[in-house]
Amino acid sequence: MSMIDDQLFEILVKFDRPGPRYTSYPTAPIFSSNYTVEQFEDDIKANNFDNKNPISLYLHIPFCDTLCYFCACNSIITNNRKKISEYLDYLKKEIDHVSSFISKGRKVVQLAWGGGTPSYLKPEEIADLSDLIKKKFAFGPDAEISVEIDPRGLSIDHLKAFIDGGANRFSIGVQDFDNNVQAAVNRVQPELLTRRVVKQLRELGIKSINIDLIYGLPLQTIESFKATLEKVIELSPERIAVFNFAYVPWIKAHQKILHQDQLPAADDKLRLLQLAVNSLTNAGYVYIGMDHFAKPNDELALEQKNKRLQRNFQGYSIKAGTDLYGFGVSAISHFGRVYAQNAKDLSEYCDKISKGGFSTILGYKMSRDDEIRKYVIMRLMCDLELDKREVEKKFGIVFDEYFLDSLEKLKEFLQLNLITFDNGRILITQAGRFVLRNIAMCFDKYLPGMPKEKQVFSRTV
Ligand SMILES: C[S@@+](CC[C@H](N)C(=O)[O-])C[C@H]1O[C@@H](n2cnc3c(N)ncnc32)[C@H](O)[C@@H]1O
Ligand code: SF4
Repeated sequence: MSMIDDQLFEILVKFDRPGPRYTSYPTAPIFSSNYTVEQFEDDIKANNFDNKNPISLYLHIPFCDTLCYFCACNSIITNNRKKISEYLDYLKKEIDHVSSFISKGRKVVQLAWGGGTPSYLKPEEIADLSDLIKKKFAFGPDAEISVEIDPRGLSIDHLKAFIDGGANRFSIGVQDFDNNVQAAVNRVQPELLTRRVVKQLRELGIKSINIDLIYGLPLQTIESFKATLEKVIELSPERIAVFNFAYVPWIKAHQKILHQDQLPAADDKLRLLQLAVNSLTNAGYVYIGMDHFAKPNDELALEQKNKRLQRNFQGYSIKAGTDLYGFGVSAISHFGRVYAQNAKDLSEYCDKISKGGFSTILGYKMSRDDEIRKYVIMRLMCDLELDKREVEKKFGIVFDEYFLDSLEKLKEFLQLNLITFDNGRILITQAGRFVLRNIAMCFDKYLPGMPKEKQVFSRTV
């Protein structure tokens, strides 16, 4: 069991500093505008030459009805349905164009609808987009199709449209059930609404529900968050994400609207995490790592034991290790050694798509060293251990020589019993799970020299 006692609490205070979440390595600030659309086209062609390996797809639907003041997502607030329908036309153009480069024999094993709020689309728009995707790609029989939904403004027809399109995993944004917290962050979402959606999903046969919470929001107290956690546990989702509030007002200016004096202090925030971990593990959930909890019989918990978890921009999954093609404004693709990101600005995205069908503005080609470090970081984040001999065999290096620097940095974690070394393996202890990001940071080549203005990361604990 992963509990936070007083001693660990002190350690976590010490490690609470800005750091990447390692949904990719190298991290996004390393992507460069030197990477061109022409390169992207060449890279897609090369990636699809005689390649029958499965793929993952990501669709970014950026729109939301109202702004949650805490939001750090790539979202666009609008009530202009024409703007949304125009965006969908560009998105379809992009899917049409990019899919023409992807080998027909490649099966889709994962499709994620993310946002913004995919459920802000109209049911007929959801059906239309699903049809196009199904026409342009061949789906594997057990493809994981996940959707992020917001109970506000959601009808059963939305759910049916997603399910008709094959959706089998739903992630519900809740954040906090407390009325005062909801008012403070401009996200009033009556509890009844959330309960109704969970019930409807169950009635429609959905077996995988995730609920998103955030700790560190304004006005959250131990009592209020305890009540929220109890309500979530009662709803019994298969997975629960308890995100660390990423307070980054220098990137998301609207977060400045939040009253600073209502934000929990660093140690109070940690107490909220402590409460979440202790309550959820007591209720039988397994702490997977990095904000994620799952029931013991959930695929994430089972496959973590078999070391089959992967991590990508959508978090943990067993399907995430495949080549990923992202569609829509700000979407990121990652295949082979390539990372490529679409324009983050809506009009720039549309403009680029209308001119050539691609909208890449940033990218990066991984070096051999990046590949080695990515492997090490991802295995640590997913398996919570690393077999040094496996890395040596896979990459033909002598681990202790190659990572002399990193091992030096790890000493601090060893002394605090956050990691142990055992027979050629680095093992992350129960306590070490809370500082996974910090441990991974020891292997990040770019972090030490990264200019301050590029260090846009949220705090780690
Ligand atoms: C794209 S949203 C989910 C779908 C929908 N837009 C909603 O909010 O219900 C993804 C999740 O990111 C999390 N999130 C957004 N801003 C965050 C922040 N500043 N810090 C931590 N988590 C955040 C929220 O938990 C949210 O549910
Ligand atoms: S948290 Fe979700 S609903 Fe709220 S603004 Fe962000 S993306 Fe939109």
